[in-house]
Amino acid sequence: MLDLINVSYDTQIPNNVGLSSDKKVLKALEKWHPGYINWWDGLIPQQFQQSLVYLRTAVSVDPKGWAKFDYVKMPEYRWGVLLAPQVEGRTIPCGEHAGEPAWQEVPGEYRNLMKRLIVIQGDTEPASVEQQKALALTAPSLYDMRNLFQVNVEEGRHLWAMVYLLHKYFGKDGREEADDLLRRQSGSEEAPRMLGAFNEETPDWLSFFMFTYFTDRDGKMQLESLAQSGFDPLSRTCRFMLTEEAHHMFVGETGVGRVIQKTCDVMNANGITDPYDINKIRDLGVIDLPTVQKKLNLHYTLSLDLFGQEVSTNAANAFNAGIKGRYMENRLTDDHQLRNDTYRVAELDGDQVVYRDVPALTAINMRLRDDYTKDAAGGVGRWNKILQKAGIAFELSLPHESFNRKIGVFSGHNFNPEGKLVSGAEYDKGLTEWLPTHADGDFIQSLMKPCYEAGEYAGWIAPPKVGIDNKPGDFEYVKLHMA
Ligand SMILES: [Fe+2]
Ligand SMILES: [Fe+2]
Repeated sequence: MLDLINVSYDTQIPNNVGLSSDKKVLKALEKWHPGYINWWDGLIPQQFQQSLVYLRTAVSVDPKGWAKFDYVKMPEYRWGVLLAPQVEGRTIPCGEHAGEPAWQEVPGEYRNLMKRLIVIQGDTEPASVEQQKALALTAPSLYDMRNLFQVNVEEGRHLWAMVYLLHKYFGKDGREEADDLLRRQSGSEEAPRMLGAFNEETPDWLSFFMFTYFTDRDGKMQLESLAQSGFDPLSRTCRFMLTEEAHHMFVGETGVGRVIQKTCDVMNANGITDPYDINKIRDLGVIDLPTVQKKLNLHYTLSLDLFGQEVSTNAANAFNAGIKGRYMENRLTDDHQLRNDTYRVAELDGDQVVYRDVPALTAINMRLRDDYTKDAAGGVGRWNKILQKAGIAFELSLPHESFNRKIGVFSGHNFNPEGKLVSGAEYDKGLTEWLPTHADGDFIQSLMKPCYEAGEYAGWIAPPKVGIDNKPGDFEYVKLHMA
């Protein structure tokens, strides 16, 4: 009997979707596999590919115990296809088909729309691994290196998850799309990744932590809305991906928190009370807090752009079709069709930001972005607690949604982080205080020296409070391969 909870390892591709009896899809995936391995091999420096990394691998989709931890060489990681268990009697949660049984096959009328959403989601997964490929060379500890690789192998698995759907449900054009997911490259001139934030560099570890906090959280919101899809295999796929995604945001939040902690500790130890005494702070080998704020501004605003236009007919169509729901759609208590509802969106009226109620159906993106902002604010509050506890007079904050935007109503206008429209000259002058400059980047880069001794940490970051899998402080999370 097909076991839908535990993962079967009897095919080359671990899965809980009965691949061994689904020969056509198994064959298609096996054909795609070498290209994937090839992509992985070419990406991360070889010395790390040969190292033993203490990684978790999904062995079940049971929420109570779905992973096991062990040393693995990354090219031998068992990337698998895992779907959360089917919910008996599940119905389409929203749109014009709300209440009808969830689809087990793709409805013909929505085929292209559905494929496009899966491809866009799929494209982000390998992109982030590409962006992060060089970071292990400057890992501040083996603990951090392990976390980086954990995020990387799971993003690889998320690519598998989307590729499975393409192969299983979209025939020939699904296979072509799956191949294209390996052809595009982050930052490439000829074939860039589909979304802007995924073509930016992740040049240092503070960027990595900000990325996993802010951009993986966009991923979370997109997965949450696809987990509400009326297309049941997509919903089940995304539900399990969310289980893994939580760790990525944990890495981001604790990473930034540890940077802040170390800066506070060093400031206090040296009697520095002014967070803007930047040169003195930097001379002590830690990252000053205004630079942390600038990095936050950058990554938050890049991530806001990922939500697309505030008012969007595509988003309305996807919701109406029941392909994509709202955040926590199943817990909302309205009619799930939004026939008469309105939602507040920002608009520009001259040089004022004004808010206007529009049909809620067209404001699906805006709503998801608002949910994202609320979610993202939580960690910022916890970072501020670290500052308070250390007695440092500095407060981090999310910039206004109009600042530094490339997509949506605010793009092309000069807003400051408080949301005030400013002149071009003021904007140019302010930018050096609002976004990381080349000099900030150079400074951070100067701190990026590897620290590969078990239990030791680079001077700019505090150790974590607890180990992964409850391991002790001196645990060797990566057994480095020495060439
Ligand atoms: Fe992912
Ligand atoms: Fe992620």
